[in-house]
Amino acid sequence: MKKLLLLGVISLIAILAACSSGGSGGGKEATKENPLIIKFSHVTAIDSVKGKASNRFAELVAEKTDGRVKVEVYPSSQLYGDADELDALVSGNVHMIAPSVTKMVKLDPRWQYVDMPFLFEDEDHARKFFESDVAQTLLNSDQLANNDIMGLAFWENGFKHFSTSKHPLQKPEDFKGLKFRAQAGKVLESQFKALGAGSATISFGETYAALQQGTVDGQENTFNNFDTQKYQEVQKYFTLSEHGRLDYAIFVNKPFWEGMPKDIREQVEEALKEATDLEWQLASDENKKSFENIKNSGKVEVLELTKEERDAFVKALQPVYDEFGDTITPELLNGIRDLK
Ligand code: LMR
Repeated sequence: MKKLLLLGVISLIAILAACSSGGSGGGKEATKENPLIIKFSHVTAIDSVKGKASNRFAELVAEKTDGRVKVEVYPSSQLYGDADELDALVSGNVHMIAPSVTKMVKLDPRWQYVDMPFLFEDEDHARKFFESDVAQTLLNSDQLANNDIMGLAFWENGFKHFSTSKHPLQKPEDFKGLKFRAQAGKVLESQFKALGAGSATISFGETYAALQQGTVDGQENTFNNFDTQKYQEVQKYFTLSEHGRLDYAIFVNKPFWEGMPKDIREQVEEALKEATDLEWQLASDENKKSFENIKNSGKVEVLELTKEERDAFVKALQPVYDEFGDTITPELLNGIRDLK
């Protein structure tokens, strides 16, 4: 009985917190003067793919709702970092986040599909996945619903590449004894282990310092994240490995989302749809630009892999499938492979 009462109070607090910001949700009508506030927190730079797309989303929402909804975007882990962003969403302290999907491992280990080595062929394959029924099963999962979260859309970033400050990474043996920064989860730990390297989970906001101070020797990320975090300054060798992906999904606090007046919610959904199209385009364009910036920085040596060298990585990383194939589930892995 006491437990039930406590649960009731907690739910009430969460709903009140979700509705407390802005002029709507609590019963009052959202107006230009007293708009409904959507707090959108993320960890990357303002000029990153996600930074640009979320700012455009905020503009589109303002246009479509005629100023009745205001999206407040908090970039660069300003409000919440990797460790607490998801908790803040569940508790309703923020209303929308767009994390790299592997960070959802806390709720559902299947989101680590994105880290499975060489699973995606190219960008087209990733986009087919975003639009597929298999992707919908992740967005509509019980694990999210049970935590009062809704997944609304996939946002893209791109393929990850390895970098280090120590020596060129041309073959699996070159990883031996090095330590890498990982985003989250056991799959990435297993990936580095299969290459003979160690890893440490370090939040995105602390990675530059960790690389600079030598807490870790290397990292893996997309061109755009590497460039907009200025890792050129603290890394020397960059291998074009495309061994895994880094993509996002948009998650909202469910009571908050469902508490919005229907007409407003539809306008926000429309804005999100447009912002998503734009985000996909930005992911291609900005990663291309960032690749040029990295090459032209004069600070990192960019290394290509021959077909044989790539095959050696595919083989060396096979143990990750042996260890995690069941966790990620054959349905999801085969569903993704079938979209090639
Ligand atoms: C990372 O931690 O490397 C990425 O998840 C950051 C991001 O959101 O792109």
